[in-house]
Amino acid sequence: SEPLKVALLGCGVVGSQVVRLLTEQADDLAARVGAPLELAGVAVRKLGRKRDVAVPESLLTTDAHALVTRDDVDIVVEVIGGIEPARSLILAAMAGGKSVVTANKALLAEDGATVHAANRADLYFEAAVAGAIPLIRPLRESLAGDRVHRVLGIVNGTTNYILDKMDSSGASFTDALEEAQSLGYAEADPTADVEGFDAAAKAAILAGIAFHTRVTAADVYREGITEISAADVASAKAMGYVIKLLAICARSDDGRSVGVRVHPAMIPRSHPLAGVREAYNAVFVEAESAGRLMFYGAGAGGAPTASAVLGDLVAVARNRLAGTRGPSESVYADLAVHPVGET
Ligand code: HSE
Repeated sequence: SEPLKVALLGCGVVGSQVVRLLTEQADDLAARVGAPLELAGVAVRKLGRKRDVAVPESLLTTDAHALVTRDDVDIVVEVIGGIEPARSLILAAMAGGKSVVTANKALLAEDGATVHAANRADLYFEAAVAGAIPLIRPLRESLAGDRVHRVLGIVNGTTNYILDKMDSSGASFTDALEEAQSLGYAEADPTADVEGFDAAAKAAILAGIAFHTRVTAADVYREGITEISAADVASAKAMGYVIKLLAICARSDDGRSVGVRVHPAMIPRSHPLAGVREAYNAVFVEAESAGRLMFYGAGAGGAPTASAVLGDLVAVARNRLAGTRGPSESVYADLAVHPVGET
């Protein structure tokens, strides 16, 4: 078949790994999709910047809007993050009938309704929650016949890394944060991680798809880890606990409301979540028939997140070739959403 053309928006920690994988695995990807995936262009903020991966100069552009509206582009991959210009670019791409793959949790959590409503082809966003861990597709597809009661776990790698360092070596919050940033786990602005905004956005997205209702980041009760001192961590340890930042999405017993919250919690050291070290993430999904499922793996970092992006890219490319569409948002319950604890 003719190549499918891919426009990439953003070439940072994740974007550069997407370019690397698209190049290194071009033959395998073409075989799996049934057509080559060809990079049509890479939109960046500044030309001439040093990047983790060599991108052919001819592909780089600062005019993202022109790139996403190009007639020959089939698929747009957005890894810029943040609300604007990401939202306008995704909407422009969708208006042109492009398939969209995004890792943008902030946008989906704040204004997912607009983006879902504008979708005319495919919108896949596995990389928006918990990096490499398949979680969106299991919730949207594998568990579509079940009734999810609760989704709970560790969904922010940076804070888990910080808390783990504080626990294992007695490091201060500041030193541990610096280390996480140097490893490329943290968001550009670490406030999003340490104040729990990143986890709250992910929790909102998970709750929305798990319970088929609309949840935005503003609906999530949120508490970060900036107030946690080395002494807190040490005394929890002495009592046989470890402090973890948890995201908890739960349906009420009567099924009529949903509560979503993010806050530090004391976990007994024997609990499986206590064994989640460094920047790893782990999420439990509890469903009526499936019972308790555990998802575990790398929740942050360039290559793991790019793995999820590539998986989505293959899926939307296959759908395009087959003239079909993947799942779309199924909002059918208008549940009351409240931070748990306020019921
Ligand atoms: N800053 C995020 C984290 C990256 O630490 O989990 C992945 O979303």
